[in-house]
Amino acid sequence: MTDSEFLHSGDEKKTQVQSMFDGIANRYDFLNHFLSLGVDLYWRKQSVKALDLEDGHVLLDVACGTGDQGFAALKVADIEVMGLDFSFNMLELAKKKIDKRGLSQKFEVVQGDAESLPFQDNTFDALSISYGIRNVGTISAALSEFYRVLKPGGRLSILEFSEPQGWFVGRLYRFYFDHILPKLAGLMSSKSAYTYLPESVRHFPDRSDFKDLLSSEGFQHVSHRDLTFGITAIYRGVK
Ligand SMILES: C[S@@+](CC[C@H](N)C(=O)[O-])C[C@H]1O[C@@H](n2cnc3c(N)ncnc32)[C@H](O)[C@@H]1O
Repeated sequence: MTDSEFLHSGDEKKTQVQSMFDGIANRYDFLNHFLSLGVDLYWRKQSVKALDLEDGHVLLDVACGTGDQGFAALKVADIEVMGLDFSFNMLELAKKKIDKRGLSQKFEVVQGDAESLPFQDNTFDALSISYGIRNVGTISAALSEFYRVLKPGGRLSILEFSEPQGWFVGRLYRFYFDHILPKLAGLMSSKSAYTYLPESVRHFPDRSDFKDLLSSEGFQHVSHRDLTFGITAIYRGVK
């Protein structure tokens, strides 16, 4: 697949993204930590903080992939986590990791679509999605589902890559994302996925447009916080 063949919204994009993640699942964790130089652990921790989790809460982690966001959340409070993803292969890895850590009583995963969540209204105390919202077919459809399944007062935390705003960091970032990262990933035969990555970040709404989207879906107290020079941002909202 070449750069220009990537779609940036719609149902066809979903099919592309699903097969892309099914294809890279086995290398995903390694590439994730390696290509982010391990900083992803810090980003996840900050996203968990934004959820204000308390013992007894039930968290839905959408686009859970291999489960790392859920594991980070389980470290801060005695909660239950429901992970949802549409990639079968990513979920199989999540299940193995859950079993290996002896967390099967606390962490369950289910295959499903972020845009049509298989849960009743007002079910979850908190909802997280990390590096997933950029990949869904229709962002507003997913946000509307997040709002529906959260309990009133429930917290939303969205972790997503963003384009840094400073001139110097912006140039460094683009050089790394556009030239270094696809080459590194290409060495591990995941080139198309890591060409898609910068491409999809570029097509993601900017911070203020994304916050407007959250507000228009009904979320209150919407805010964002840039992390690591703005290459990642956390968006928060409350139902
Ligand atoms: C970059 S990975 C992030 C995985 C995990 N959240 C993490 O932080 O490592 C994106 C994940 O989103 C999932 N995904 C993308 N679109 C989805 C959708 N519409 N419904 C469910 N999962 C989706 C993919 O299958 C993939 O596992």
